[in-house]
Amino acid sequence: MEELKKIRKHFEKKLKEIVDPKVLETLEVEYLGRKGKLTQILRSLKNRTGAERRKIGKAANELKERLERLFAVAKKDLETKHLERSLREERIDVTAPGHSMPVGGVHPLTKAAREVIDIFGRMGFAVAEGPEAETERYNFDALNIPADHPAREMWDTLWLKPERTNPKSMPAGLAGKIRNPKLLMRTHTSPVQIRFMETHRPPFKIISPGRVFRHEATDASHDIQFWQLEGLAIGREVSVANLKWTLESFFNQFFQPKAGELAVEIRLRPSYFPFTEPSFEVDMRGGDGDWMEIAGAGMVHPQVLRNCGIDPNLWQGFAFGMGIDRLAMLKYKIPDIRLFRENDIKFLKQFIGK
Ligand code: PHE
Repeated sequence: MEELKKIRKHFEKKLKEIVDPKVLETLEVEYLGRKGKLTQILRSLKNRTGAERRKIGKAANELKERLERLFAVAKKDLETKHLERSLREERIDVTAPGHSMPVGGVHPLTKAAREVIDIFGRMGFAVAEGPEAETERYNFDALNIPADHPAREMWDTLWLKPERTNPKSMPAGLAGKIRNPKLLMRTHTSPVQIRFMETHRPPFKIISPGRVFRHEATDASHDIQFWQLEGLAIGREVSVANLKWTLESFFNQFFQPKAGELAVEIRLRPSYFPFTEPSFEVDMRGGDGDWMEIAGAGMVHPQVLRNCGIDPNLWQGFAFGMGIDRLAMLKYKIPDIRLFRENDIKFLKQFIGK
């Protein structure tokens, strides 16, 4: 009988402390389960004499009923509390104002590149692309710049260590063919023009926008990487006049002089590139009347055409190259080329929606 009293006291005390339905279940097992404390007492009754058995049996059964009742009440209680809590905490306030999501935007260089592609697209130029890691042949030799030619000094080249060259990063068609090709980061997108001329028959007009790399000190107008835009038009009678018109027309669409401003004018100055003959520097005169250098250009050198299997007696054409970073700097009035790759959110945000 003492034992029964103890069981009752302990059970009731523990029951009051329980807040977790899982703990409640273990309490039930502990007292009322098949091996529970009370069950054991009921089982041991068979070892007792008649009067004792009746007395203890009655008390034990009453206790069992009582514990079962208390347990049922506690269980119900916990379930209600749990339900109330989840109703309260998981409620969705459909009248609450929404959280506004920050709006992103394209990078100013992407924006400029898209506009450039758009404008040249309307003039009939297709877009050609090529690998950023190139071979000497495409970046130099095929462009009429043999090894040891002093003109190679015009491009400060970043060379890749041959033994570290990963076959996956090799230009298309090269993997497996050449064992340790001497690769470099392309210094201009002219190699794309070679790749295109090798695989297409003229006439054609293409532009090749893409990232290029130079091994040089950085300042407000030089970076070790930037975006270049090159153009190439090959046909029977493509001339310097066509080159001049194409560039002038492009600049006027890209910079869109407003009413009252001067239209963009260009002039060609003699220059030298190994892959063009004659070669020019292209100057542009915008709204303020000052001339500034904006591009390199020329008529594709006959040797370059021959290197690509195109007969220079039948075909001729022009090529030009300029920096997309530079175009974007002029158009959006950005003072430092390095801002493009700093990815300062305050800088980039200015171009959202523009
Ligand atoms: N490839 C030259 C450069 O990067 C630019 C250029 C292209 C000049 C085509 C002339 C003709 O410097």
